[in-house]
Amino acid sequence: MKTCLVTGGLGFIGTNFIKYIAANRKDIAIINVDSVTYAANPCNIDEKTMTGYKFYKLDIANNDELGNVFNENNIDYVVNFAAESHVDRSIMNPAIFVRTNIEGTLNLLKLSLEHKIEKFLQISTDEVYGSLGKDGLFTEMTPLSPRSPYSASKASADMLVMSFFHTYGMPVLTTRCSNNYGQYQFPEKLIPLTIINALTGKEIPLYGDGKNIRDWIYVDDHVRGVLDVLEKGRFGEVYNIGGRSEMQNIDIITLILKKLNKPLSLIKYVKDRAGHDRRYAMDFSKITKELRFNPQLNLNDGLDLTISWYLKNEDWWKKIISGDYRHYYKTMYEMR
Ligand code: NAD
Ligand code: DAU
Repeated sequence: MKTCLVTGGLGFIGTNFIKYIAANRKDIAIINVDSVTYAANPCNIDEKTMTGYKFYKLDIANNDELGNVFNENNIDYVVNFAAESHVDRSIMNPAIFVRTNIEGTLNLLKLSLEHKIEKFLQISTDEVYGSLGKDGLFTEMTPLSPRSPYSASKASADMLVMSFFHTYGMPVLTTRCSNNYGQYQFPEKLIPLTIINALTGKEIPLYGDGKNIRDWIYVDDHVRGVLDVLEKGRFGEVYNIGGRSEMQNIDIITLILKKLNKPLSLIKYVKDRAGHDRRYAMDFSKITKELRFNPQLNLNDGLDLTISWYLKNEDWWKKIISGDYRHYYKTMYEMR
């Protein structure tokens, strides 16, 4: 039995990771540390279905509180999902991104080193590589060139993680993944925002000329890649994870509207995001070759699953758009 400390386990990807472990791996006990920001949902995890599950509500940047978690438990693995994750919010308020994504990661690294944990996995993003032109792919050797406060904070954290490997010989691993979509994603991100606005008859804000490209991956595929790296990855290495599904924003919104049988007139072209990265695309041949990882779901099938989840789970998102979190759901365009 291994004990895995997961941070940010009430957010989108962390929730899906914990559910995957609960369903497939009885040999891994989860300790979930989450400060429960607007992006978290305590109802996501049903504790009764999980053996050895523990939850701590705390900020990963708080040394004393996080230190108690390490003192109270024998932790083997740490997987750091906790982050401020939305680019638009980082443009409006960068300070919290520095606090959580950089100081929080440093705190977690220091405690993990002190407690001699077996493995530390940092969940990073393709955005640390910057922006691509029409051609080319990001590889693990692409120089870091973050362009938003969010990606700058993630790149800083990646460098701190790598510094703990070189300086202290700490057993660290890093994954960098492309844009995730799927169940439990907070509706500030493009795909759930499009689905929910379409279902509620609200306009869908499309930034700039709508031709920015993202490489989409279904969240369950990302989660499997994370577990592969945690169990089989080489220390000190970075592993790209991608979906092999590049698409322009206008095309993905159009596809969703067609699937929902809603009018394209809901699309509203709005002022562009400041510093908007043009294109992301991943070369993830390293994880494929070394760890035999490949995404299993194509974008069309993944979108069908995602749309049907949001249709079946109206309670989940209606609480967000009409409850305490409604001002967080407001699109960045409305907040500008
Ligand atoms: P999310 O915003 O849905 O969830 C983040 C979680 O972290 C929330 O539950 C929140 O409460 C928690 N959190 C925030 N600050 C905290 C703090 N100081 N202490 C403890 N918990 C805190 O994010 P997500 O989309 O699930 O992303 C998870 C990770 O994956 C992030 O590190 C992100 O950078 C990375 N990532 C995301 C994507 C994507 O497309 N969403 C792609 C690649 C990488
Ligand atoms: O690439 C990985 C990253 O993907 C993660 O590291 C981030 O945590 C995650 O938020 C995501 O970042 P993006 O900025 O790419 O995702 P977002 O859903 O915000 O935007 C996707 C694209 O859609 C982007 O080109 C901006 C555009 N967009 C977004 C929103 C919210 C719109 O045109 N309209 C919108 O309302």
